[in-house]
Amino acid sequence: MTRLRVAILISGRGTNMQAILDAAKVDDYAAKPVLVLSNRPDAAGLKIASDYGIATAVVDHKPFGKDREAFERALHEHLVEHNAQMVILAGFMRILTPWFVSRWSQRMINIHPSLLPKYPGLHTHQRAIEAGDQEAGCSVHWVTEGVDEGDVIAQSRVPILSDDDAESLAARVLPEEHALYPKAANMAAKTILEKLKSPIR
Ligand code: GAR
Repeated sequence: MTRLRVAILISGRGTNMQAILDAAKVDDYAAKPVLVLSNRPDAAGLKIASDYGIATAVVDHKPFGKDREAFERALHEHLVEHNAQMVILAGFMRILTPWFVSRWSQRMINIHPSLLPKYPGLHTHQRAIEAGDQEAGCSVHWVTEGVDEGDVIAQSRVPILSDDDAESLAARVLPEEHALYPKAANMAAKTILEKLKSPIR
């Protein structure tokens, strides 16, 4: 089976990345991780990726200051160098410019810890609790120029309990992320592979 070469972008602990690396151990998984890229040199996920035998790279955003596009050009170089065909954002905490998003349009997905379109951006669990919502969850979506706005590929839901705080709710949502993201990434990779197969009209 032809597998799609994917790069996973992280900023931190990398538990979603690890869930995908675990799922990708089998040959019939449509995505083949070839690179884990972090914008933070101290991201714990880098060590995990190395332990899985995956190439890692760091592009620290700090030296680029406000020049986000220059930072992204450096990211893009690593992606090209590794012949990546798809980008999976897994806790990557930088907002991407239209320059980068357009290069990876229909080939980049993200996981977000809310039931989109509710609560794009930060502090999702706290906002769901404060709004009096009965349920929370996570969404995997295609990345478009608007932050957390692209079409949703898959979602998973959990109840919000009366004594929840943001931390307890996050702890209930996270295992759902780990179950959802590998499945949704596989679906997205299959969609991209199908498109690559179809002739240009
Ligand atoms: C996850 O909860 C993910 O949904 C969230 O960051 C966490 C990363 O954890 N992403 C966002 O908030 C993106 N806007 P991880 O590094 O252990 O996968």
